Amino acid sequence: MKIAPSILASDFSRLAEELKDIEKGGADYVHLDVMDGHFVPNLSFGVPIIKALRSCTNLPFDVHLMTYHPEEYLEGLEKAGTHMVSFHVEAVPHLDRMIHNIKDRGMKAGIALNPGTSLASIDQVLPLLDFVLIMSVNPGFGGQKFIPYSLDKIAALSAMIKERGLTIPIEVDGGVNKDNAPLLKKAGAEILVAGSSVFGKEDRAAAIRDLKV
Ligand code: DX5
Ligand code: ZN
Repeated sequence: MKIAPSILASDFSRLAEELKDIEKGGADYVHLDVMDGHFVPNLSFGVPIIKALRSCTNLPFDVHLMTYHPEEYLEGLEKAGTHMVSFHVEAVPHLDRMIHNIKDRGMKAGIALNPGTSLASIDQVLPLLDFVLIMSVNPGFGGQKFIPYSLDKIAALSAMIKERGLTIPIEVDGGVNKDNAPLLKKAGAEILVAGSSVFGKEDRAAAIRDLKV
């Protein structure tokens, strides 16, 4: 299991140290939540902050765009040394174009699905994707409660990927903790995003270890 701590739950006045702490603690990626105050009812940070953080860690950047017009951020994210980018299927009418746009810039392309969005929404483009991000809370805030029906959705997606002979990792985001991590693994998740369950703990290495089921 790979762990991507979300810095949304970290101390924003000490971002460089927070990044060092999770890198030392065994994190596999850093999850960076970009919010525009429109697609989700909250604002977080954008490309300038992500760019500034690039020199603070060697961990690969996993950028989650919770925005309308996510294509507008791609040039900046590419320059900021981003490894993987996910955008929301609910925000983009041209999925195929957007996926190619990300890949042409040398980044891994993922689509994020809100809890209420059907897997059918990515049916046609599934083979083009490098990963799928299943939201297990309604996006916009950290520290929310895991939505239990996400487990069935992850299992269904995992079956859909296997049936089609594909190998596409499933990333899960929202309310992930050490109690649901084993269930998420069983359902087919391979990357767990964790905000409060990592940065809310004093010992980040122990918190990350607890999630690596
Ligand atoms: C929610 C964000 C998440 C968030 C997760 O909209 O996409 O990445 O930081 O936070 P926790 O793990 O606290 O639910
Ligand atoms: Zn996220």
